[in-house]
Amino acid sequence: MSKLVIVAHPSLKDSLINRIWLAELANHPDALEIHSLYEKYPDLNFDVAAEQALLSKYDEIVFQFPLHWFNVPFALKKYLDEVFTYGWAFGPGGDKMKGKKIRFAVSTGGTKDTYESRITLDDLLKPMSVTFHYCGCEVLPSHVFYGASTQPAEDAVVSNAREYANQILG
Ligand SMILES: Cc1cc2nc3c(=O)[nH]c(=O)nc-3n(C[C@H](O)[C@H](O)[C@H](O)COP(=O)(O)O)c2cc1C
Repeated sequence: MSKLVIVAHPSLKDSLINRIWLAELANHPDALEIHSLYEKYPDLNFDVAAEQALLSKYDEIVFQFPLHWFNVPFALKKYLDEVFTYGWAFGPGGDKMKGKKIRFAVSTGGTKDTYESRITLDDLLKPMSVTFHYCGCEVLPSHVFYGASTQPAEDAVVSNAREYANQILG
């Protein structure tokens, strides 16, 4: 069963981590469908019915994004607000996300030490985890690249991208 990767990066052409991650994932077109929100919807006017139909096709979904102000990029928050509707994702009859496996793939500017010494990335992602638990999903361990702002060597990012692909392909 193939898996869906929803990408929320506002400027992939300027990206290092998410761009290399996607280049690695592109080696597995039969196993992964990549859905880049900003490329599909440059003005972020989501086609809610089409997005719900897409989500419904997959049992496992990865949300891939850079951390922005200790949160998800606003496109992803807008996506949840608009696509995860009452009667679809929650409320009466709202069981369409129930039983799906969800994973987050997150890049951060800050180093791992930063996130271990104070608030952790899992702490910051708690609202996302709670949202998906509320919709009846199982949340799998996140894949992370820490320290994008420390000018990481491309080799390190490529190796992290391979770990990411292996993790989601199981
Ligand atoms: C608007 C904005 C806000 C950011 N906020 C954070 C933040 O709160 N914490 C953090 O560690 N990095 C932050 N960053 C750094 C990004 O997370 C980092 O540049 C990105 O994950 C690198 O991935 P990329 O090479 O694919 O763009 C921010 C970057 C931008 C543009």
